[in-house]
Amino acid sequence: MILVTGGAGYIASHTCIELLQAGYEVLAIDNLSNASKESLQRVQKITGKKLTFIKGDIRNEQLMAETFQQYNIAAVIHFAGLKAVGESCAMPLEYYDNNINSTLVLTQAMQAANCKKLVFSSSATVYGNPEKLPLTEDMPLSATNPYGRSKLIIEEILRDLPIADAIKQTNPPWSVALLRYFNPVGAHQSGLIGEDPSDTPNNLMPFITQTAIGRREKLAIFGDDYDTVDGTGVRDYIHVVDLALGHVKAVEKLLSAGGIEGVQAYNLGTGTGISVLEMLNAFAKTNKVKVPYEIVPRRAGDIAACYADVSRAKKELNWQATRQLEDMVKDSWHWQSKNPKGYKN
Ligand code: NAD
Ligand code: UFG
Repeated sequence: MILVTGGAGYIASHTCIELLQAGYEVLAIDNLSNASKESLQRVQKITGKKLTFIKGDIRNEQLMAETFQQYNIAAVIHFAGLKAVGESCAMPLEYYDNNINSTLVLTQAMQAANCKKLVFSSSATVYGNPEKLPLTEDMPLSATNPYGRSKLIIEEILRDLPIADAIKQTNPPWSVALLRYFNPVGAHQSGLIGEDPSDTPNNLMPFITQTAIGRREKLAIFGDDYDTVDGTGVRDYIHVVDLALGHVKAVEKLLSAGGIEGVQAYNLGTGTGISVLEMLNAFAKTNKVKVPYEIVPRRAGDIAACYADVSRAKKELNWQATRQLEDMVKDSWHWQSKNPKGYKN
């Protein structure tokens, strides 16, 4: 059985589908602070398979200890966390508590149960303001906000675990995949599950789809004076189903005979940079909808461009993204237009 923390969330719910379809049993835990249980009902509808759900907070030590006693968990995918950059600047303690403490409680429970195979949701944010592109996993790391710092600190905590194994000669040793996501967009092609931000979205795609559906008057493009193809910010957008499949590959690798030695980081992106205007034009053209926009000043803390070198994931996880920009914009719109109010329909 695979334990999926934050299992009802955007990326996790898509990953649950791919895990179930690959034949894994899934146990999802979520405190539903930023998700609806409905997402997992729909996962079961899409796959025709059952998963086990526990509503709870993974900072709850007793809950986590009992969970590992009750279920035979082979590996954990740890998605649970808070993820809004702006909010993290205003609420750093909540972010450090939720993201770091949850990881400490989880890994302590894992260690006590001798389950030491972990996939962690990291982020391209750990590269800070990149000096060189594309980003390879061994480039310098830094953080520019508490959210990013929480990811960086967790990566460092996890790196200490196999070192301790070596000192104590414990077996089995920790085996950890740090998956550094670039910019996840899109939705399952059924249109039944997708991104459903409970407050004002933080990211470009939900802003585009909510504007297209009429929930917002216009999209604000944060700056057109960057040193990029058309002056707008460039990112490496990845279809969430490709991202989900990357998790299945990471789990397969962790459970394989060779496994993953110690802690290994993997970029999960497409390797291609897309500008805000390119994304907007692709969305309007593919979906034949108008998205009114205006150019506004740069958003504080934004970088000009960010995209991945994805060769390590290809070589070591046998994974690469296959879905194109058209799939990303089509599936995002399919989800939004079928569910104008998200899961509250
Ligand atoms: P999400 O908010 O949809 O999913 C996170 C889930 O974790 C939510 O369902 C939430 O209710 C749950 N959760 C939060 N704290 C919890 C706790 N203490 N106990 C139990 N459940 C808890 O976000 P997402 O976009 O699916 O992101 C998943 C992970 O990927 C996060 O760790 C995020 O930081 C990381 N990530 C996301 C992006 C992105 O752009 N979406 C990029 C890089 C990394
Ligand atoms: N953008 C707009 N208007 C909007 C929203 C975004 O023009 O309303 C632009 C941004 O300026 C940027 C691009 O669209 O150029 C992408 O912005 P997002 O907010 O969607 O994504 P970011 O790359 O800024 O941030 C994302 C995640 C962070 C993570 C970071 C690095 O939201 O959590 O990637 O992985 F830290």
